Amino acid sequence: MTSTMGLLTRERQTPPHSEAALLRPYIPSDKRTLLRLLHMLDIRYPCGLSWLDRRLDDVRDGRARCTVAISAGVIVAAMIETPKGQGHVKLSTVWVDPLFRRRGIGTRLFETAIRRWCREAVESAWFTVGLRYCDDLVRVVRPFGFELVGLAAYRYWEDDCELVLSWSPERSYAE
Ligand SMILES: CC(C)(COP(=O)(O)OP(=O)(O)OC[C@H]1O[C@@H](n2cnc3c(N)ncnc32)[C@H](O)[C@@H]1OP(=O)(O)O)[C@@H](O)C(=O)NCCC(=O)NCCS
Repeated sequence: MTSTMGLLTRERQTPPHSEAALLRPYIPSDKRTLLRLLHMLDIRYPCGLSWLDRRLDDVRDGRARCTVAISAGVIVAAMIETPKGQGHVKLSTVWVDPLFRRRGIGTRLFETAIRRWCREAVESAWFTVGLRYCDDLVRVVRPFGFELVGLAAYRYWEDDCELVLSWSPERSYAE
């Protein structure tokens, strides 16, 4: 058994490049930038941008959490978490601007969230991602202990299904 904190330091170290990005909590004046950064939501999900607009209001009102990553003064990535009852978190979205990928920003977002979940005694976290878009995300989250736990067929579109990936602090890892 390897502890999650051990895993963070041993198996998925944040690459040095990511020092260029600063993480901070969302503030309401970020909304317009995030609606632009996450415009793909409207293509991927029915009414995706309306959903984002409402969810950012939830963040503002303390019903959800959003972390943004800033590089050269610009928001280049975001992670939105929604509490689902005591000790359970749904990752509503994670997105790094394609121009800023492969610099360790995605890893850093997950690393930071998981450290916090461990501190806050979160028992489980999960997210879904469309099968046709899942490759990069699955590669980044696997070393943190996220595992595929289900498939939601035709959830949004008739020709795609959503993978469900889940994390818990006590998950055991192969050495
Ligand atoms: C998945 C995602 C968040 C990863 O973000 P990212 O910032 O590119 O992630 P990282 O840079 O931490 O890691 C990606 C890869 O780059 C590599 N990398 C990191 N820094 C690097 C550097 N300086 N030089 C070269 N490679 C680097 C990592 O090792 C990793 O490689 P691997 O895939 O072989 O393991 C991003 O690709 C994304 O937003 N994808 C779309 C997600 C999506 O569909 N969201 C909507 C549904 S929730």
